[in-house]
Amino acid sequence: MEPLKLPGPKARALIKRDSAVISPSYPRGLPFVMDHGKGTEVWDVDGNRFLDFAAGIAVTSTGHSHPKVVKAIQDQAEQFIHISSDFYHEKWIGLGEKLNEIAPFEEAATSFMTNSGTESVETAIKLARHHSGRMNFIGFTGAFHGRTMGAVTFTASKPGYHRGFYPLMNGVVHAPFPNPYRPILDRLPGEDYGETVVRYIEDEILAHIVPADEVAGILVETIQGEGGYIVPPPGFFPALRELCDKYGILMITDEVQSGMGRTGKWWAIEHFGVEPDIVTAAKGIASGMPIGACIARSSVMTWPRGAHGNTFGGNPICCAAALATIDLIETEYLENAATVGQYALDALSEIMTRHSHIGDVRGIGMMIGVEFVKDRKSKVPDDELCNKVADLAFERGLILLSCGKSVMRFAPPLCTTKAEIDEGLTIFEEAVTLAEK
Ligand SMILES: Cc1ncc(COP(=O)(O)O)c(C=O)c1O
Repeated sequence: MEPLKLPGPKARALIKRDSAVISPSYPRGLPFVMDHGKGTEVWDVDGNRFLDFAAGIAVTSTGHSHPKVVKAIQDQAEQFIHISSDFYHEKWIGLGEKLNEIAPFEEAATSFMTNSGTESVETAIKLARHHSGRMNFIGFTGAFHGRTMGAVTFTASKPGYHRGFYPLMNGVVHAPFPNPYRPILDRLPGEDYGETVVRYIEDEILAHIVPADEVAGILVETIQGEGGYIVPPPGFFPALRELCDKYGILMITDEVQSGMGRTGKWWAIEHFGVEPDIVTAAKGIASGMPIGACIARSSVMTWPRGAHGNTFGGNPICCAAALATIDLIETEYLENAATVGQYALDALSEIMTRHSHIGDVRGIGMMIGVEFVKDRKSKVPDDELCNKVADLAFERGLILLSCGKSVMRFAPPLCTTKAEIDEGLTIFEEAVTLAEK
């Protein structure tokens, strides 16, 4: 395939204007300047077409500008745009009811609506402290929970997220995330590696660092996102649930990236057979409108009037988009994410057999990671190759984002078809072949 010449002239001019006025802190990678999008396809300002397998970092769950989501936004904008969280409106209540229906626990759910993933996490941290009366937390290395002061303290995927920002929040201790491809702890005979990590938390962290009865919560991504699309071993969450129950610790699963149907179930935690106490959501919840939620068991969200709030929470346009999105996921895309996701996982596993620099392919539904290594024996991460693949794929019309040290993430919209997966993976394999040369 002939590579596109990127960025084109219009894109180049806009990137120049951007660099003069927009914060340089944004981690821009590919020079893609969007003009419009439809489903899994996007076009840049120079008229180039791309398949979007990044979906705005796993956000555009129903694809770009799904007509039903657009209509819901337009209708609501005509009715009213804002009223503030001091008052009530039906779509906000309706969204709370819907989240109660799909929450990953039997008990009734109460939700606090936020404006982003990091605010959902921040809310969960405050709620856990308020409800338990305890101060401390356990998080995981490799985690990404956002960039506000509380959430960023738990974030531990790159030191750059902390550099220049100390002191961070008090009371957070990190344990190693159970990465089956790169285990760092010694497993006992017959032990699942997830159980090993939970044993480490009990025998090392709780026994030597923080008293268990002063730990408010354990905050964990069900599938690590930014850290490298890492699926923990099956024994991890059951053992973690048991530990939390033993010491009265709240289990908080961050599903900002893995939730809202991305794995073929509403929540990734449903694949592991346990129920958390608090779950955070954002990203895919409203197809790109900025809304998130901290969803808790009603017996946990017990704080009184005034303890926590925000101005934009439950914004009517965002709630309308969320309700339309949830309806589409429920009726069509949950099933599609499971079947087309498995199809993509199988195809990528087959591609792996032809490329020795691919060390691992893993994932559930439409949350798939492909890890590049110098060679399969040493498993040394090959970040240079990974970046090269992203650039070469982009020049051939495929948008991919990397994560971890050298992992390519595949997080297309949940409406992506098998034909689009075939088209995208043909480009991906061509890019891998060229990069390996
Ligand atoms: C698991 C997880 N939690 C929290 C966040 C933060 O979300 P936001 O960027 O909307 O603040 C992210 C964003 O990538 C995420 O992946």
